[in-house]
Amino acid sequence: MSYFEARGITFGYGTGREDVLEQFSMQVERGEIVGIVGQSGGGKSTLLRIIAGLETPRSGTILMNGRTLVDDGCFIQPERRGIGMIFQDYALFPHMTVAQNILFGLNRLSGKQRQQRLQEMLSLIRMETYGRLYPHELSGGQQQRVAFARALAPRPELLLLDEPFSSLDAELKASIRTELKRMLLASDMTCLLVTHDKEDTAAICDRVMYLNGKQSQVQ
Ligand SMILES: Nc1ncnc2c1ncn2[C@@H]1O[C@H](COP(=O)(O)OP(=O)(O)OP(=O)(O)O)[C@@H](O)[C@H]1O
Ligand SMILES: [Mg+2]
Repeated sequence: MSYFEARGITFGYGTGREDVLEQFSMQVERGEIVGIVGQSGGGKSTLLRIIAGLETPRSGTILMNGRTLVDDGCFIQPERRGIGMIFQDYALFPHMTVAQNILFGLNRLSGKQRQQRLQEMLSLIRMETYGRLYPHELSGGQQQRVAFARALAPRPELLLLDEPFSSLDAELKASIRTELKRMLLASDMTCLLVTHDKEDTAAICDRVMYLNGKQSQVQ
């Protein structure tokens, strides 16, 4: 069995609307970084929202790491799925420092473990001395790195990225791409990356999947 598997997912946003996904299936191995591309409106963000538990499919099964997240009789709540997310317009909490942003999802750890994990994450993003700063005091790329650290800190079993570079300029994008690849490899993360940019998939992904609502194919 694959590490992550979606089987026969069908989903629509409501009566009178066409289904966005129809019998969609995919499999991902542990540690794989899979790119998801496709035309605008093709259902990429919807797919990630379903995997994260923010939408409920009408039918289908989602399995991860030997656990059923969704099937006919089962729906695991988003906060219990062990899935990290960075979405298109996902910003840091502006009233919290870098450290507080990263610590946000670590409530279950003891004080000492929290501090240790914070240091690990700051070092992963190479921002050891930035913990006390606020998001508005950082560059766009630095903010993005903190967003990655916040998503990775609770050790998710799967990381979902939806156009994580869309707000960055071209130059910054190139360096962040390299950073992201390094961070994903360093943390042995399994990852789905939605992007419309072929340079992103070429630089980061092990393989690319084309999603066109009703049909998908591996390229
Ligand atoms: N909250 C919503 N309510 C109703 N319809 C929606 C909603 N969100 C998305 N849709 C519709 O579902 C379809 C798929 O949208 P989705 O956002 O998943 O596409 P996408 O592949 O992420 O597109 P893009 O590349 O532009 O981000 C579109 O037709 C869209 O209009
Ligand atoms: Mg989208």
